[in-house]
Amino acid sequence: MRTAQIVICKSAILEYSKIQVGVKNGVADSSTVKGLTGFGSTQRRDAWWLENLPFAIVMGIFVVYTTWRAFEGKFYECYHLGLPYLSPFYSPLIDPDHHWWRFSPALLILAGPLGFRTTCYYYRKAYYRAFLLDPPGCAVGEGSGSKYKGETKFPFILQNLHRYFFYVAVIFVIFLWYDAILAFIFPQGFGIGVGTLVMLANIILLTVYTFSCHSFRHLIGGKLDCFSCVNFGKPRHSAWKGVSFLNEHHMFWAWVSMIAVGLTDLYIRLVSSGLIRDIRLL
Ligand code: FES
Repeated sequence: MRTAQIVICKSAILEYSKIQVGVKNGVADSSTVKGLTGFGSTQRRDAWWLENLPFAIVMGIFVVYTTWRAFEGKFYECYHLGLPYLSPFYSPLIDPDHHWWRFSPALLILAGPLGFRTTCYYYRKAYYRAFLLDPPGCAVGEGSGSKYKGETKFPFILQNLHRYFFYVAVIFVIFLWYDAILAFIFPQGFGIGVGTLVMLANIILLTVYTFSCHSFRHLIGGKLDCFSCVNFGKPRHSAWKGVSFLNEHHMFWAWVSMIAVGLTDLYIRLVSSGLIRDIRLL
């Protein structure tokens, strides 16, 4: 009995030390965990793959739609109809008359919002699982045979740019707030149409998504060990608490803001192309 206990202890220590080696090398080494070596192999009994399905479908549709719209280069504003609406995919609008840029104006600004979303911590987790299957789920074998290297090598090391994309995203948020305010100013004066409310809802959701960002939470106070030891500690602590509250639901804000921006563009496209008419409420 005592011998059996010693053998079990030895193998547990061996397993533990293997994991420690993986951690010491900078990243956790999932291949040392038993039962996770083959693709899809897991000890989980729930339908873990179900989590990936909605993301794969909605994100797939969003990527196809935004790519098509970015290259389309028309029906992105309603000024010709006397309506002050501009698609968020084309804001800020640069060289719409093609003086020096022959292609769609959206292509000039796409890298900002795209870079911010692509490097977002939530989206990274979601697309690594749903599209790269690397791994397909938490505690599910990826079966690639290669050791997990984290985001320490090209191209994934570029994900570290997220904190800088945050600043870029804030600039876009300012532009979109400007567009939303302009959406209240019709040629005849102040007014509200369905498009005004659509643009307003869109920028509110985008603002919440942007400021629920993990990088922003870190910036505003997450990096501090002691709020009372720094200048403006009290307001920073209050702001950090508010951002932390939003940050807890970051995945939710990522989803609704993504759907909102897609639907806002779709609405403006339908109105701009004459397929539907905007309803004036005020
Ligand atoms: S972590 Fe998602 S936007 Fe920064």
